[in-house]
Amino acid sequence: MKREKFGSRLGFILISAGCAIGLGNVWRFPYITGQYGGAAFVLIYLFFLLTLGLPIMVMEFSVGRASQASIALSFDKLEPKGTRWHWYKYFGMAGNYLLMMFYTTIGGWMILYFVKMAAGQFEGLDAKGIEAEFANLTARPGLMFVCMAIVVILCFAICSMGLQKGVEKITKVMMILLLALMIILAVRSATLPNAGEGIRFYLLPDFGKVKEAGVFEVVYAAMGQSFFTLSLGIGAIAIFGSYIDKKRALTGEAICVTILDTCVALIAGMIIFPACFAFGVNPGQGPSLIFITLPNIFNAMSGGRIWGTLFFLCMFFAAASTIIAVFENIITFAMELTGCSRRKSVICNLIAILVLSVPCILGFNVWSGISPLGAGKNILDFEDFLVSNNLLPIGSLVYLLFCTSCYGWGWKKFIEGSEQRTGNPVPEMGKGVCVIYFAADRAVYLCTGIYHHVLKHIGE
Ligand code: ALA
Repeated sequence: MKREKFGSRLGFILISAGCAIGLGNVWRFPYITGQYGGAAFVLIYLFFLLTLGLPIMVMEFSVGRASQASIALSFDKLEPKGTRWHWYKYFGMAGNYLLMMFYTTIGGWMILYFVKMAAGQFEGLDAKGIEAEFANLTARPGLMFVCMAIVVILCFAICSMGLQKGVEKITKVMMILLLALMIILAVRSATLPNAGEGIRFYLLPDFGKVKEAGVFEVVYAAMGQSFFTLSLGIGAIAIFGSYIDKKRALTGEAICVTILDTCVALIAGMIIFPACFAFGVNPGQGPSLIFITLPNIFNAMSGGRIWGTLFFLCMFFAAASTIIAVFENIITFAMELTGCSRRKSVICNLIAILVLSVPCILGFNVWSGISPLGAGKNILDFEDFLVSNNLLPIGSLVYLLFCTSCYGWGWKKFIEGSEQRTGNPVPEMGKGVCVIYFAADRAVYLCTGIYHHVLKHIGE
């Protein structure tokens, strides 16, 4: 079967950016930044994004392009005979499903909040009323299922239209709208009275705040966020390398994707922090920032219903762009492994995702007693933990070793694969330095993770 390609370079960049840009940028990044002290955290995060995230993204693209396959077959095609790199495909594929098992539920919340905002259902509610709205939502599994199912069906329908006519066409429009809407919202937020204080919190680093929050904790969060935001380690982004022609130098493309991803995260902060400070709201509220704190702010703002509706539309576009990209992966796994048609794969995976999303929904109500990570944590937290704290960093390490080790695909082939247009721009002596450096920061990441959990445990 001939592999479909993207229609344009812009399509490739926007879809890859769409895979990266998601709840991690518009939801996770602002609340983590709020919790860990603002600008100083942002600087640490940017450092890890460039030194850790970017090289792994080039590796993923390169593996995808050279193998012309998703993670379901890419290691099988590129690994030296007799090696077992392909075992990682089961973890990578599981990572894609696991990510969707909770992502679709939050995507459903976004669409519901968009509709509620547009219908003016938050108007007239006080802070307690808005909090009760969210509690009411998470107490109703039926409603959450319907919202999740709408998102899942919509995104699979787009994927079923094909790579160019569905995924590329729709995601391109969605990403351009997302960027435009976010810029409008950021300008609105930055021009609110007292917004300057929020902008200072966000843009002027104060390392004292990092100390207050705990240096290890902040470093760990910043590293984790850099993997999560670029969807690295589970092959989710690798597949898009297989859809781009050989003329493109992948480092340049990865830089474009990273810049877009970073811009969206930074603009999300520019929307949220000035608004928080303008209305005297603490920005360090954690995950509920978007669903509880912000509707309060929109209620207090003139024209808040329109701004709130646009805001949740942005949130939905961001979530949907990642869901569509990961669904494209999931659909391709079945096509590559069984040779079935896209249509058949869409139907089977649609049913699978609807069923697999149920535990996350029930974790907020019927199964709220199930807390694999301890009291106060639910099934969503557990699924997020498995993906974000385990599969993404370990998977990134696998890609790193695969591309740099002579027992894997190897440095030479990786460089040739990633820079087809320009030959080999990285001097051979760079390899040793790169390997030591990347391996060291992987090790630091994993160690700080363990340290962080042990400390937390002792603290409890
Ligand atoms: N990269 C995706 C996000 O940021 C998972 O939400």
